[in-house]
Amino acid sequence: MPKTARRTIKSSDKTAKPKTAKPKPKRRADQYNDPTHNYLHYWDTRQYENQAEHMAIRRLLRGKHFRRAVDVGGGYGRLSILLKEYADEVTLAEPSQQQLDLAADFLKGYPGIKRRLVQADDMPFKDGAIDLLVMVRVMHHLPDPARELREVRRVLADDGCAIIEVANYLHIRNRLKHLVRYERMPVKPVDIRSPENRRYDEIPFVNHNPYTVTRQLEHAGLRVEATLSVSNLRSVRLKRLVPQEMMIGAERFLQRPLASIYFGPSIFFLVRKIKN
Ligand SMILES: C[S@@+](CC[C@H](N)C(=O)[O-])C[C@H]1O[C@@H](n2cnc3c(N)ncnc32)[C@H](O)[C@@H]1O
Repeated sequence: MPKTARRTIKSSDKTAKPKTAKPKPKRRADQYNDPTHNYLHYWDTRQYENQAEHMAIRRLLRGKHFRRAVDVGGGYGRLSILLKEYADEVTLAEPSQQQLDLAADFLKGYPGIKRRLVQADDMPFKDGAIDLLVMVRVMHHLPDPARELREVRRVLADDGCAIIEVANYLHIRNRLKHLVRYERMPVKPVDIRSPENRRYDEIPFVNHNPYTVTRQLEHAGLRVEATLSVSNLRSVRLKRLVPQEMMIGAERFLQRPLASIYFGPSIFFLVRKIKN
């Protein structure tokens, strides 16, 4: 994850706007432009998580095909290449130019994936233009995702669907920790940054309560149709001790049954628009 970030209020945000103008994004989310951090390398030691996420997306999209897909906050395109199997047209929509530049290289062997500088709270797509929207590992940068979720609903076609991944505060280890301390589980997002990173100009980093997110989705007009618990065995020690194929084999059996108790650190929601 990027260690540093720049103060990113646009000067245009400060000027008066006509009442009819579309509100500008509240803040530029370009923190992944950090030149000291190469997000591609983040995945070098996370093959289990990468495979678990691919597995989850395949499960949620099995038997479906879409005309137009968007990978929102898609980074360098790690998951865009998977979406190409399920859609005629894929756009990697990402607010960091550095990630898009990495994507230019990473996506070389995958023609037909467009790259656009896009932020989730102000997407340059017409109402109902997108059949499939995927937003993975982005919610943990959105402490208050109301505006972004409204945009998801706006751009989704009536029969479209979205996969939204949530970094889950209620995962089993936290539950045990809270149980031992007789503490209630928080309803609001929990800031997981170190004290020295808790500054305005540092990228937010939160874990969400999935029950709260479900309510926020509903409030935005999105209904959860399916849920998966993902990366259930995430543990540095386990990954060191157990062969990866075994970890993935077990993960295959766990994603569905553990979803109802939000067991894992990452929850994948398949959502659809609630009809007006
Ligand atoms: C942890 S990376 C995940 C990248 C990709 N989705 C993946 O799973 O490989 C988080 C990404 O979210 C993007 N991001 C952060 N805030 C965003 C926002 N408000 N709208 C859209 N993308 C955002 C970052 O630029 C970064 O590329």
